[in-house]
Amino acid sequence: MRSDDVQTAHVLVIGSGGAGVRAAIEASEYGETLLVSKTLAGKGGCTTMAEGGYNAVLREQDSCEIHFEDTMKGGAWLNDPALVRILVDEAPERVRDLLRWGAVFDVTDSCEVAQRPFGGQRFPRTCYAGDRTGHEMMMTLIDRLHSTDVRVVNEVAVVSLLKDDDRVNGAVGIDRNGDLSVFLADSTVLATGGGTKIYDISTNSSSGTGDGYALGYQAGAELVDMEQVQFHPTGAVFPYDARGRLVTEAVRGEGGVLKNAAGERFMERYDPERMELSTRDVVARAIATEILEGRGTRNGGVFLDVTHLPRTQIETRLPVMLEQFLQFGVDIREEAMEVAPTAHHIMGGLRITAHGETTVPGLYACGEVAGGVHGANRLGGNALADTQVFGKRAGESAGKAGKRTNIADPGQVEAIRKWFDTFAEGDVSPATVVRSLQTAMWEGAGIFRNAADLEKTLGIIDHLGTLRMKAATPMNFVECCIARHMLVHASLVVRGALLRKESRGAHVRRDITQAWDGQTSPYGHTYQSLTRQGIEMGVKP
Ligand code: FUM
Repeated sequence: MRSDDVQTAHVLVIGSGGAGVRAAIEASEYGETLLVSKTLAGKGGCTTMAEGGYNAVLREQDSCEIHFEDTMKGGAWLNDPALVRILVDEAPERVRDLLRWGAVFDVTDSCEVAQRPFGGQRFPRTCYAGDRTGHEMMMTLIDRLHSTDVRVVNEVAVVSLLKDDDRVNGAVGIDRNGDLSVFLADSTVLATGGGTKIYDISTNSSSGTGDGYALGYQAGAELVDMEQVQFHPTGAVFPYDARGRLVTEAVRGEGGVLKNAAGERFMERYDPERMELSTRDVVARAIATEILEGRGTRNGGVFLDVTHLPRTQIETRLPVMLEQFLQFGVDIREEAMEVAPTAHHIMGGLRITAHGETTVPGLYACGEVAGGVHGANRLGGNALADTQVFGKRAGESAGKAGKRTNIADPGQVEAIRKWFDTFAEGDVSPATVVRSLQTAMWEGAGIFRNAADLEKTLGIIDHLGTLRMKAATPMNFVECCIARHMLVHASLVVRGALLRKESRGAHVRRDITQAWDGQTSPYGHTYQSLTRQGIEMGVKP
């Protein structure tokens, strides 16, 4: 069933979302580049599903300093300030790259890139292509990729990174036929995106399984702030199969209002100044509180209403939302949507330098798999900018790294084969393991947390890790590996949540009372690696 296939390159990029493709485009300037994608490049991942927009300072009235302050405040000052500086300073040039490469963003009457308001920002700086901004970006990036020499390997899931002593020198992947491939490279860039599929209700596509967190951790990299999971305030609540699907923040940016079942505009009580355009952590908690305290709708959500807006505004600025809800039987021009929080983004990730280097030589990371940029709560619109800014940086550093002679350690490849053999003998389907994990995470490590629930959830994850998964078909081997990654990723989230004995941004510990806020917190990053874990005592920017 399995044959070996060895491919070599100067740079190996794992992941084909916005960050991975941007990194590959950049790396290809320096040498042979190989991009390995779990899906069809550009079709999977989060970027292509991103709706609302890309934050960049493009107007004289705005400034990078204000974007920096908004991002730090939104992130409850847990962000790495040096990374935030880079993000805000370089986001404008990276969006110009996209425009030069043919991206079609909405423009004003005077043909400038249009910008809309998004939560937690004092200036409307979110550039957009209707409500399908990520799709426009991804199509542009894939076009650009095709004009380079980058070799693309589709539908291969990376199961392990390879190391030569302490240095990453490639990876092993598996395809849907159960065949293994070995990829050897001088530098490896992890750009595997996020992983909120560990939760029952999530905006992520089925590929959002957090493989990169597990791959990096197992290769010895240090991860920071894994407890910081963003719950997007507005996901669909029905029909059942569409639960959690993203209802873009652009709906609120365009003027949509939130109301509870009694018709009350409840954000008055939670953030009277910023109302619906407060930061996501605040809005998600407000909605969750309304629902938990019995003021939600019969379907278990709250109302998001745009019926007061001109019909043409809805049709031209929110066409995907209009179409999506028409499919659910709701005409948003005439009726309110029903929404509730949904797991959306992992703010934590591999610790990186300004150049995308992780703590393991030879391994780089960019995009959602990397931590530190967004602190304890990401501003909507900063993720797409992050993919381009840090994708370019990681691709460039990986490309500039020296050439080496790379040999696959037969012991490591053999260990992977042996691991696979255990799947042939197991007795539990990977789908069963994943379902149990998602339920446990939603119930025990969601918006509101406490030590007892977190410990219980960790116990369930550990127990699931002891089950012997069974691969009944070749594709099941891939699913077993991904389920294993999801367990490692979930465990990092829960252990991080136990390490952070405070409420900060998206992480709320209801069992802890504290006398500080994000700015005055004594704590910095949580960190976890194979050799150490803990929480830094904070160093203020
Ligand atoms: O709501 C949205 O459109 C999502 C944007 C983001 O996560 O940046």
